[in-house]
Amino acid sequence: MRLAVLISGAGSNMVAIARACRAGQIPAEIAVVIADRPDAGGILRARELGLHVALVDRGRFRHEGRLDRVAFEAALEEPLRQHQAELLILAGFMSVLSAQFVARHAGRILNIHPSLLPLYPGLDTHARALAAGERLHGASVHFVTAELDGGPLILQSRVPVLPEDDVGSLSARVHAQEHIIYPMTISWLASRRLQWNGGSPTLDGLPLEAPVQHG
Ligand code: GRF
Repeated sequence: MRLAVLISGAGSNMVAIARACRAGQIPAEIAVVIADRPDAGGILRARELGLHVALVDRGRFRHEGRLDRVAFEAALEEPLRQHQAELLILAGFMSVLSAQFVARHAGRILNIHPSLLPLYPGLDTHARALAAGERLHGASVHFVTAELDGGPLILQSRVPVLPEDDVGSLSARVHAQEHIIYPMTISWLASRRLQWNGGSPTLDGLPLEAPVQHG
């Protein structure tokens, strides 16, 4: 299975996925890493790993403050086609994909989100969980649909929120779990244990009515 990993930032999930592929824990390989901004730290890390990197600079598709989403997404399709990507793995990818783009790749896009969805979709999840006084927080992997952070949930990991936590310590604890549950989910999909099934996903043939809880 050929993966495209899409990043905007540091790329630590991308590195975890690359290592899991190379260790044989995921029956797949990263065919290409696509970054939507030239200063994404993950670009360097991907190159160090010897991975193909494609830069589709979102800034170049912005005219008078407005993103030409059709042109941007057409440009994203280029490296996907060139590297024959079969699964799209959003790993800290900050561009919102249109319903049309998602429909073209239905059931073949995964995202990881740093909260226990459906709690805290969107940005600043750690700060919001701390401000709300949550005792539990975590990360979720889900199929991507047109609804932001709203597609069917697959796997979650919970972490405690400690009294002394700040955004840095909490996000580090969540990140460590992300590096476990994202490779795990991709391995399920790549080995076809996990099936999209037209939007009603199954795992080992059984409906995924609620996300699997890790640990
Ligand atoms: C992760 O917290 C992920 O859940 C979110 O963006 C962050 C990406 O981190 N979608 P990294 O770039 O993989 O280190």
